[in-house]
Amino acid sequence: EKGTYQHYMLKEIEEQPLVIRKVIQQYQEENGQLVIDPSIVEALNEADRLYIVAAGTSYHAGLIGKQFIETMAKIPTEVHLASEFGYNMPLLSEKPLFIFISQSGETADSRAVLVQVKKLGYKALTLTNVPGSTLSREADYTLLLHAGPEIAVASTKAYTAQLAVLAILAEVTAKGRNVDAEIDIAHELAIVANAMEELCDGKDEFEQIARDYLTVSRNSFFIGRSLDYAVCLEAALKLKEISYIQAEGFAGGELKHGPIALIEDGTPVFALATQENVNLNLRGNVKEVAARGANTCIISMKGLEMNGDRFVLPEVHEILTPLISVLPMQYISYYAALHRGCDVDKPRNLAKSVTVE
Ligand code: F6R
Repeated sequence: EKGTYQHYMLKEIEEQPLVIRKVIQQYQEENGQLVIDPSIVEALNEADRLYIVAAGTSYHAGLIGKQFIETMAKIPTEVHLASEFGYNMPLLSEKPLFIFISQSGETADSRAVLVQVKKLGYKALTLTNVPGSTLSREADYTLLLHAGPEIAVASTKAYTAQLAVLAILAEVTAKGRNVDAEIDIAHELAIVANAMEELCDGKDEFEQIARDYLTVSRNSFFIGRSLDYAVCLEAALKLKEISYIQAEGFAGGELKHGPIALIEDGTPVFALATQENVNLNLRGNVKEVAARGANTCIISMKGLEMNGDRFVLPEVHEILTPLISVLPMQYISYYAALHRGCDVDKPRNLAKSVTVE
């Protein structure tokens, strides 16, 4: 039940610190070591390439999961949209392993791919929030998200739970192949949970940002580089699906190759700056759009902030920033939709699980 919350979406946004703590607890042994079913770790280690297949928000989690797995476990990983994969299958490696990411475990596009790869004799792992769901039953292995039921159509806590489980999977797999993951994921996720709590406590600021930037806009842009780019795709999806404001996520460096033509006087542009190696270049992109009249809102990470940034995120391990940088975006979408009188939990034209191809 949503209790005192006005909407399930708000409740689910604010459950995220608890969800992350629950995920750590579910995958941690008494001695503090993270554990995953050894047969899953073996399946990853036997594969020469991983193929992540998903849709929507879960696809966006996959884009970040690829970075976790490649950085920590050093296994080449591709990420595919389920709805494209089935009709346009890439040339597969010799020993592929498929990873399906799906909150509901019922997405028809993903299911169609799973049926296809099983026919080819390949193994599959499903990350899902719903035990006993179709994608879980039909795959060889399952990892649960432990996010609790997600009722709002717009996915929030399932996304951050997916990221947490993917980070744990990456670290445990690295250990299994004697690669130094160089990061203590359980410890860093605990810091993430605290940072999330801090963001939830300060949500009034995100309501104000929604008022300042999105009250009258018909369109909006989210820009970032590297991991921030993947979060921008998710931010734009969130905003468009519940507020009906056209929203697009762009890689900072791609603006000059076309999208910058869309910038007009007052166009809201949200910029995420959490990655040190691309911070200065991203700042350059912000200047380019500001010079063309954009109303820019920079959200940066502590340590990388500069004068004029609208919000500075609490510091977490650099690779885990997507788990917290998405929170302001979820809140901004929520408040923008609320201010516009939209049906936040049940946006028009959308269903919670998409069971047709
Ligand atoms: C976005 C959203 C959808 C789902 C997508 C996949 O907020 O809810 O984009 O993420 O339909 O759903 P699952 O994860 O259930 O396969």
